[in-house]
Amino acid sequence: MLMGEAMTSTFVMAAPWWRSDIGRLLTIRGGKPLVGRYPISGAKNAALPLMVAALLTPHLVTLRNLPGNLDVAVLASLLQRLGCEMHWSATESGLAVTIAAARVRPAGIDRDLVSRMRASVLLLGALLARCGEANLPLPGGDAIGLRGIDFHVTGLRAMGATITLDGGTIRATAAHGLHGADILLPQPSVGATENLLLAAVLATGKTTIGNAAREPEIGDLGACLTAMGARITGIGSHTLTIDGGLALAGAVHTVLPDRIEFGTLACAAAATDGELVLPNGRIDLLGAAAPLFDAAGVAIREVDGGVIARRAGDGLRGIDVTTGPYPEFATDLQAPTMALLALAVGASAITETVFEQRFGHVDELRKMGANISVRGRTALVRGVPRLHGASVTCTDVRAAAALVIAGLNASGETILGGLDHLDRGYDRMAEKLAAVGADLVRSGGNG
Ligand code: UD1
Repeated sequence: MLMGEAMTSTFVMAAPWWRSDIGRLLTIRGGKPLVGRYPISGAKNAALPLMVAALLTPHLVTLRNLPGNLDVAVLASLLQRLGCEMHWSATESGLAVTIAAARVRPAGIDRDLVSRMRASVLLLGALLARCGEANLPLPGGDAIGLRGIDFHVTGLRAMGATITLDGGTIRATAAHGLHGADILLPQPSVGATENLLLAAVLATGKTTIGNAAREPEIGDLGACLTAMGARITGIGSHTLTIDGGLALAGAVHTVLPDRIEFGTLACAAAATDGELVLPNGRIDLLGAAAPLFDAAGVAIREVDGGVIARRAGDGLRGIDVTTGPYPEFATDLQAPTMALLALAVGASAITETVFEQRFGHVDELRKMGANISVRGRTALVRGVPRLHGASVTCTDVRAAAALVIAGLNASGETILGGLDHLDRGYDRMAEKLAAVGADLVRSGGNG
């Protein structure tokens, strides 16, 4: 979906740093090794639930190291419509925002904004807990599977909410407030774990969330909620226990670095045979991706304040990858890794187990000369020495990153459309890449 002008102006109001004039097309002339410093931003997937957490208290919540991406801008617009006041500042370590949610009104959520971002479903738990009601259009986001919200709805119902789906709108009430419950998630959903955690900290009594997701971004949310006065145990394990019902205070919290941006840029350094210094990169957050990158010939080593990433001396090698919940190989690194393995010596089998449709990038990579075939949930990749430029379209956030990596390697010109997807997930990626030697330009009207 392209950004309309009316939509753009709402971002400018709520997120004044958002640049809406950056162009709808990205042209990359590949073949330049990436060399230099590429600072890793705060994690998108931590920033979004942390911003929603500010709804839980009338006191000020300050978040530092926020990434300046489109999802953050959209969520800022949504929060503003819910009555939050926000004060932004740009610091050396990224954006900072102070959110004042003294007066929250649980109405007026814009269908167009919600349809842009699946994480908007997190507003459900927070608004129910704070206001006792929430009306939310069904959330959108990437076209990478059914991505139901049944785990969210079932959990919130167990906590006393009445929830109906009516003409594409979720109507939720908790007339007598939410109460604690024992909830077992059918699978460790990141969003459901966060939604239920956000609701449980204000719900009266004890909540347990079994089969909880263990992604580091949930740990970051837990740390901020704890700083606000919530009582949570088991963060980082499969069972979270929350003693809810306390009024929460404000807090100042620094968003943890983005492990997906980090992994993606490590792949980009290796794919272009360059060497990137990635300040704030954290190998310890990569989980299973760390040894697999090593096996594939992506050499990463810690230095003071970050990581150096480059191609290993003996080149890129095919490996087998299976995605899974953290600490297994992140599904969000699957597409960028596929772009890398398309250039490796030998064959790779990449199996996607988290989402049922997350191979949208395969057809686009093929247009660039990649040798990839899909059988069910597995993509078989046979490496080629080099890709070639083509006109391609980003189909989701991580597919966009994969196509950028492919374009940086390819001979000739690669022209990427569908850049909303790139902008949703990454803070000024084209600008940051240009600063490390990439030959690329954004053009073609407002982005
Ligand atoms: C989050 C991340 C996304 C990442 C994903 C998996 C954010 C903003 N997004 O998405 O980048 O790719 O985790 O690491 O943090 N499911 C259901 N019913 C539900 C909830 C989930 O069937 O109620 C299914 C989904 O369809 C999917 C799987 O569970 O197949 C995992 O989804 P989930 O972990 O919830 O992903 P998100 O929170 O949407």
